[in-house]
Amino acid sequence: MNNNGRILLVYALIILILMLSFGLVLAQYAQQSIIEVVGENGMERAEEASRNIWFMTFIMISVIAMALITICYQIFIKYVDPMRKATDTAEELSHGNYRARADSGVFGDAGRLGAVINELGRHLKELTSVQGMQETRLSAVINHMSSGLVLIDEKGYIQLVNESFIRTFKEDKAYYLDYLYHEVVPHEEVQSVVENVYMFEEPDSQMLTIQRGLERKFIQVNGAPIFKENKRWQGVVLVFHDITELKKLEQMRKDFVANVSHELKTPITSIRGFAETLLEGAAEDKEKNEQFLGIMLKESTRLETLIHDLLELTKIEREDFQLSLQQVNITDLVMETKKLVQTQADRKGIRISEHLDTDAVCEGDSTRIRQVLINILSNAITYTPDRGEINVRLHDEKDRITVSVSDSGIGIPPEEIPRLFERFYRVDRARSRNSGGTGLGLAIVKHIMEAHRGEVYVQSVPGEGSEFTLVFHKVTGEKIFPAEE
Ligand SMILES: Nc1ncnc2c1ncn2[C@@H]1O[C@H](COP(=O)(O)OP(=O)(O)O)[C@@H](O)[C@H]1O
Ligand SMILES: [Mg+2]
Repeated sequence: MNNNGRILLVYALIILILMLSFGLVLAQYAQQSIIEVVGENGMERAEEASRNIWFMTFIMISVIAMALITICYQIFIKYVDPMRKATDTAEELSHGNYRARADSGVFGDAGRLGAVINELGRHLKELTSVQGMQETRLSAVINHMSSGLVLIDEKGYIQLVNESFIRTFKEDKAYYLDYLYHEVVPHEEVQSVVENVYMFEEPDSQMLTIQRGLERKFIQVNGAPIFKENKRWQGVVLVFHDITELKKLEQMRKDFVANVSHELKTPITSIRGFAETLLEGAAEDKEKNEQFLGIMLKESTRLETLIHDLLELTKIEREDFQLSLQQVNITDLVMETKKLVQTQADRKGIRISEHLDTDAVCEGDSTRIRQVLINILSNAITYTPDRGEINVRLHDEKDRITVSVSDSGIGIPPEEIPRLFERFYRVDRARSRNSGGTGLGLAIVKHIMEAHRGEVYVQSVPGEGSEFTLVFHKVTGEKIFPAEE
């Protein structure tokens, strides 16, 4: 029983005692009055009346006492106890236990109080679960975003750093949190962004480079001010965006444009030079006339090949490039290409011998595979001195077909091999250009083989020769070419 219950009991007892005393006084007074009225003679009847009065008083007091106890008990059950439980529940809620509930099903004001407190508890629980969910979502987004994120408060202390920022700057969270930004982020660019945002209250951005061993990263830092609802200054948010890949692509594009311009310029300058010389009178000299025209023809052919190769490469590199697939007999294709380059080989007295498994068939684009074979075979002829040897082998294995072309040519230094398949990359620029090469042949080969999910390898010993191996995978069980690609 709680305090309220006890107080109630004390009040009930006091009332009971008061009533008892009042009853006794009343009974005594009644007895006296009777004795006075009846005198000594009627003593016997008076005693009997007095007993009756005492008896009636006792009955009356007992009935009143029982009624009082019942009322008190009811008050306790219906008001005092539910109130106590409601108070306890409210206390639990205030301590953060949003599951606490008061007794339901109690009538009257106490019942309403319990119901209201329960409703409050439910609301609080919903609110905290929504808030919790939002917080989890927000922290998942912040930590899974690819860009780094830093929050700096109005005094310049770092309040939040995300996983991506940690990955980029390689320190742990504790290194940054609650420190002044300029003490822990030493990059001038970042400091200048933060200062500008503080000063002008406008977004600002800069690029910074970080050197990690041999690796160099380009990071774009974007800063923006954060305001509270009442427009009061709250701090700065910084977003670090890794733009290394973009920079690389931009550099590749610049290199490509520079290379193309250079490659186009050389034959055009040469054609123009010879045309001018002819116009200035060299045309009169029959021998020079023929020689210069010959050079002009060769240079324009080279220009044509270059433009053709460039267009081919652009086509193959396009995202929507599609192979026209069919069952291709690679053995037949090799024989066909050999015939196509035979005259070129004969001119240099080079012998091409072949060891081919018959009827090796796989799924592929015959025009593109022919292009690969021509490029590899004509390279072998170009980079092999007169009267050299070329061997073409074809192995038809269970799940793949390998074609290797080996020559007894000049070979390739091992350090040059990784760059061989880059656009315009040539080991010996002058020799390649003289032979009419564009530097794009192997880049085209690589792209076509990749489109076929195939591979191309190079092995070479400088001065002894090179071997280019092509691997075509046969379609087995799972498809090599997914439908949507
Ligand atoms: N069989 C080979 N032997 C030696 N070097 C080769 C051979 N094939 C290719 N190369 C080297 O690879 C470079 C790139 O080849 P490619 O892309 O076909 O360009 P290109 O033949 O037009 O110069 C060539 O310039 C050459 O230096
Ligand atoms: Mg070539």
